[in-house]
Formats: sequence, C-alpha cells, structure tokens
Amino acid sequence: MSLQWSEEEVLGTVSSYYEGARVPWVPTRDELLDFVMKLARVKPDDVFYDLGCGDGRVVIRAVKEGAQRGVCVEINPVLIERARENAKSANVIDRIVFLNEDFFKVPISDATVVYMYLLTSVNRALRPKLESELKNGTRVVTLDFEIPGWKPVQVVEIALPTRIAKLFLYIKGISDR
Ligand SMILES: C[S@@+](CC[C@H](N)C(=O)[O-])C[C@H]1O[C@@H](n2cnc3c(N)ncnc32)[C@H](O)[C@@H]1O
Repeated sequence: MSLQWSEEEVLGTVSSYYEGARVPWVPTRDELLDFVMKLARVKPDDVFYDLGCGDGRVVIRAVKEGAQRGVCVEINPVLIERARENAKSANVIDRIVFLNEDFFKVPISDATVVYMYLLTSVNRALRPKLESELKNGTRVVTLDFEIPGWKPVQVVEIALPTRIAKLFLYIKGISDR
C-alpha cells in the first residue's frame, strides 16, 4: 500500500457517509491545520470557504488566524450543527456563515480562499464551478487529492504517523491556464 491515500482507500475505510454526500466525512487532522493556514497565507481581508466543512475545524481555525469571515458549507445536518457548536465554543460564531447545502449549489464568488478535502473525482466535477465563479487571485487549497487539469503553484508533503499527507495550493488565474 502506498503511503499516500487513494480514493479507494478513503471510500473503503470510512463509515460516516451521509446520504447525498459526494465524499464521506474524514476530518483534516489537527496537526495539518498549521500547514493549511501557512500555505493559504490567511490574512485579515480573507473570506475563507470550506466546501464540505465537516465539524468546521478548518474554517474556525482560519477566522481565529485572522480571516474576516468564514463560510462553512456542509450537506450533513448533524455535522453543520456540530460546526456551529464548535464555532460557538471557540467564540467565533459571529464571523462564520453556516450553510447546510450541497456545495455545487452554493455561490462562491466572494471567496478569497477555498479549502477542499474531497476526492479527485469530486474536485474534477467542481472545476467548472471554480473556473466560472472564483476571482483571479483566489487561493484554492486541497488536501490529498488534486484538481485534475489545474497546475498547483506549491505542493507540500507532511509525514503523519501512518501516511504522507499532501497539500496542493492553486491560484485562480494562474493554475487554470
Ligand atoms: C473528507 S470530509 C472533510 C471535512 C472538512 N473539510 C475537514 O477537512 O475536516 C468531506 C465533507 O464533505 C461533505 N460533503 C460531501 N458531499 C457534499 C456536498 N455535495 N455538499 C456539501 N458537503 C458535502 C461530507 O459530508 C464531509 O463532511
């Protein structure tokens, strides 16, 4: 088995798969959050989206890091509620919008950073939406799975106890040419 996860491994090892979800819930490990923030270069005027936000940990961290606003998009109502509770506990609930919706149907044109821990096949399906809605200069960070057809401007590999995690940074207007 390779140290990097494949789609089949992710799909075969998780049980938390909400009906209608394109991807199961596998949270970004906490030890990766520093790397995500650094790669995304989160700054005060940022509007940070997580498409499929799970329990909200990445968006919560981004607003604690200084992003002016976060948007948590999650199809699973139990998870979006958990994200809301977690944001409340972290005292950042007033700076995050929670959308219990399908990310294919949510407008994302005000994003300056988009985070996606999805699957290659879903990233491929989202690509036309990213290309038509995002402004040039928007940073898109994906974990473990690339956006087929886009060129990453930076790739970071992080050794975890059981595998190598891979973060991809894309910039709209550069990566999609
Ligand atoms: C691999 S998890 C990542 C969770 C979170 N982004 C993180 O990194 O901790 C993917 C999430 O996407 C959600 N999801 C899958 N399909 C979705 C869709 N069509 N619209 C919104 N959320 C979706 C799942 O319910 C799951 O919580």
